Amino acid sequence: MTPFDKRADMLVHEKEPFNAETARAVLAEASVTPTAAFFSRNHGAIPRVDPSVWRLRVDGLVGERLSFSLDELSERFAEREVIATLQCAGSRRAGLLEVRDIPGEAPWGPGAMGTATWRGVALADVLRAARPHDAAAHVAFAGCDVSDEPPSPEAYGASIPRRKAERSEVLLAWEMNGEALPAVHGGPLRAVVPGFIGARSVKWLERIELRDQPWDGFFQSTAYRLLAPEAEPAPGAGIPLGDVALNSDILAPADGAHVAAGVLEVTGYAFAGGERRVARVDVSIDEGETWVQAELLEDLGRWAWRLWRAHLDLEPGRHEIVVRAWDSAAASQPERPGPLWNPKGYVNNSWGRVRVHVDG
Ligand code: MTE
Repeated sequence: MTPFDKRADMLVHEKEPFNAETARAVLAEASVTPTAAFFSRNHGAIPRVDPSVWRLRVDGLVGERLSFSLDELSERFAEREVIATLQCAGSRRAGLLEVRDIPGEAPWGPGAMGTATWRGVALADVLRAARPHDAAAHVAFAGCDVSDEPPSPEAYGASIPRRKAERSEVLLAWEMNGEALPAVHGGPLRAVVPGFIGARSVKWLERIELRDQPWDGFFQSTAYRLLAPEAEPAPGAGIPLGDVALNSDILAPADGAHVAAGVLEVTGYAFAGGERRVARVDVSIDEGETWVQAELLEDLGRWAWRLWRAHLDLEPGRHEIVVRAWDSAAASQPERPGPLWNPKGYVNNSWGRVRVHVDG
């Protein structure tokens, strides 16, 4: 049995802490990922939070320190809903592991991502009530789960720049896909930071701190930073990850599948990240000599991925199908994972690839 009411078809990388991703074919089924199939990424044990005594504190560089129960949050501020894709920075790490080993990091495929409808209040409204000082350039989120990945055990926390925190899409969410936010996804309350790497959408939120510097905990200062290939993780080393990088992958057919000759339907996802939009998705069977443009499916708004579909006419034999997306800044994806390899295995946004055998 897969724990936390997750479907049996989840690919479980680790039981404790629980880390599981959605199978490719399941991601391809719907633009909004069912909660029971939504990936789960945890750095510590899922904490038990009693919603009846839980409170959210807002403090740091503020004119007014605040504290709310869940009811007080929903009574005081307008409810908002956002459809947003969460993507872990380690999604598609498996492609980097084929280049060189990354000890201690799970071999995530493309399923460390999913799209959900999130409901709660706008972080911006809560911040306004706290009257941040001018010096408050960063908004930190502190969870209550404890991870033993840092040199000494530490509660999970992260921060985002205030200019992002004050945008209307950033939520403090208590509902996911129309139901109370499940404990495994951060219930009773989590941050949802659309367009940013999943690591900034802190679960089991207990405290929001306004600061003049980014959060100094391990998961902001040392992890979730893009290091040069020869560098070692250390506080402040590397590029802190914020906006998600443009990415796409093929979700069906599966790598290594045997398919019938003739017209083959290929499906996948593309996600632009940040404030960019997916502009075009191209598929090729000749390593990019020629491309077929994919049809972009349901548009769920600026914070969600686009699923796509393409039809390819394939001769019998072996083929490698590749995909690349383009975003509204006219950026596209690198061809190969080799030059992207980095010591923590983040941001593999090389072309998606599957090999198929077309039966004669
Ligand atoms: N928040 C807390 N408190 N603890 C965590 O381990 N993991 C982060 C983020 N928020 C994490 C957290 C990471 S790395 C990701 S990708 C997302 O939660 C995953 O959210 P999900 O488990 O709801 O899919």
